[in-house]
Amino acid sequence: MAQESAKWPQEDVLILAIETSCDETAAAVVKNGREVLSNIIYSQIDLHTLYGGVVPEIASRKHIEKINQVIEKALTDAKVTLEQITAVAVTYGPGLVGALLVGVSAAKAIAFALDKPLVGVHHIEGHICANYIENKELEPPFLCLVVSGGHSHLVMVLDYGRYEILGRTRDDAAGEAFDKVARAIGLGYPGGPKIDSVSGQGDPEAIAFPRAKVGDNVYDFSFSGLKSAVLNYLNGCRMKGIPVSQADVAASFQKAVVDVLTEHSMHALEERGVRKFAIAGGVASNGHLRRALEEACRKRNVAFYRPSPILCTDNAAMIGAAGYYEYCKGVRHGWDLNAVPGLKLGERI
Ligand code: KG4
Ligand code: ZN
Repeated sequence: MAQESAKWPQEDVLILAIETSCDETAAAVVKNGREVLSNIIYSQIDLHTLYGGVVPEIASRKHIEKINQVIEKALTDAKVTLEQITAVAVTYGPGLVGALLVGVSAAKAIAFALDKPLVGVHHIEGHICANYIENKELEPPFLCLVVSGGHSHLVMVLDYGRYEILGRTRDDAAGEAFDKVARAIGLGYPGGPKIDSVSGQGDPEAIAFPRAKVGDNVYDFSFSGLKSAVLNYLNGCRMKGIPVSQADVAASFQKAVVDVLTEHSMHALEERGVRKFAIAGGVASNGHLRRALEEACRKRNVAFYRPSPILCTDNAAMIGAAGYYEYCKGVRHGWDLNAVPGLKLGERI
């Protein structure tokens, strides 16, 4: 069980951060929450591409094989010894249980052997905190759109570690929709970056895909209807013998996703009167989404923040940033820390 009590440190805090929630084996050393001394990511994408998506068992085995090397490299690149580390932070949920367990076990072993504090971090909180790394002036409160392979959340960041979820997806996450549509049009895995690049040659107005409205909560998202509309369009073309333009489908689908994400985000900014807006998660590296949101914020005179693409997709530097604020608030986990695949944002176990 997490122990929490407020205490802000005077001296430098060096966090060794570990992230293994999905298919990236990652470790980083982060100083005082915002200065990245090293950020090592071993991506398993090539391995999973063979199967058209992440295979959980293979991901866990690869994490076991790579975790020690990745941690050692993070320490070497940061020119920091284990003894100099203040605390060890690790993603303990949400994610794939077997994959999470590898990072959690490694973090527990290091923290226990060195008698250093152990801080469990929520993966989505990590994505949000990636924004602090390159924007030293950014502080809560602000609105954040978190769009990844497993999550689509519109979140008010009230304070460090304090969140109010305004909207979430009712079905598929935005990244999941990108991956499924990419597979359907023959682009393969991972779909997001491929749709992002192919759509450059397509016409976003070529096909009128639906923009779903979700009844009772204006901030909620739904992407499964859009995915079905793409599949129906492809089937229709096949049955009528009409050739399909991969680029037009990609561009029109992407425009539908970007329109919905932009509309909901701007609605929330206006209703809440918030002047700062950030994006996070793998889909936040989408060039079209970044440009649309930047332009929408510029028109409203709202400050726009987005992490570099390398800090949008899964990495451990973001876990080091989030871990720092948790550490400063006094969050400490015991040796009974476990992987929690369905961990909710703002929940501490
Ligand atoms: O945050 P992330 O690395 O992992 C999760 O926590 O899920 O997000 C991965 C997701 C995948 O669905 C991937 O297709 C999507 O982010 N993605 C993108 C782009 N780059 C990654 N989606 C759209 N455009 C991109 N450029
Ligand atoms: Zn992620």
